[in-house]
Amino acid sequence: MNVREQLVHGSGYCICTIDNIQLFEKLRDSFVNSVEITTQKIEDIGSLRKSLLNMSLAEINRARVSLLKLNHISEMMVESCADLVETLCGVELFIQRRANIIFNIPGNEKLRIWSHYEITSGISPFTYGIWAPFHDLDDDGGVYFLDQKSSIDIMKREEDTGQVNGPTVLGMNETPKPIRLKFGQVVVFNPFVLHGNVAFNSQFSRIGCSVRFQSCKNPLLQKNSDYLKYYRLA
Ligand SMILES: [Fe+2]
Repeated sequence: MNVREQLVHGSGYCICTIDNIQLFEKLRDSFVNSVEITTQKIEDIGSLRKSLLNMSLAEINRARVSLLKLNHISEMMVESCADLVETLCGVELFIQRRANIIFNIPGNEKLRIWSHYEITSGISPFTYGIWAPFHDLDDDGGVYFLDQKSSIDIMKREEDTGQVNGPTVLGMNETPKPIRLKFGQVVVFNPFVLHGNVAFNSQFSRIGCSVRFQSCKNPLLQKNSDYLKYYRLA
């Protein structure tokens, strides 16, 4: 089963290798060089992952805000995975204007990302997401994904009770194990698969980057050019 078939008709997500690892390293390094942390000088991704452990939510939020000056993360993400993106959507795309850089801090329930699926945010059913950690991910600090059939079964079960995005979906207790990845791997997924993260124990925080994209030939849903921009793969 090729990637497209797996995403459309199979599990709805799969693990792929980044096509241009040099570009992805450049992306990670520009992130490390740009993020503003007051507690200490950040030398590399490892020291940043440790520093985040001792920061308050306000400090973490300030670090996030400092990333607004990074303007080309989305382009670098899709170009890092250019072959994969082209296979799924061609070369003429709508991409998320600002890719998300996500921090996950161990042991802090408040930063848990609840189980959800992407289409609830108003992106179109033709959109895919790619998510990649900026480091090896060999603990449970990653993201879990539920296969497409199980995800849709849960949504339908909830819909039968007259609810959408209620406690069955958002409060899902039985979650799969988060996926472990090596630096240089991504998870690509469709907007219908349930995913999220769980509280985890680790010496390090998890830092990852995600971006959404679709073919510009497909219709949009609620998100428009405020959120998406036209982009042609180089
Ligand atoms: Fe998500």
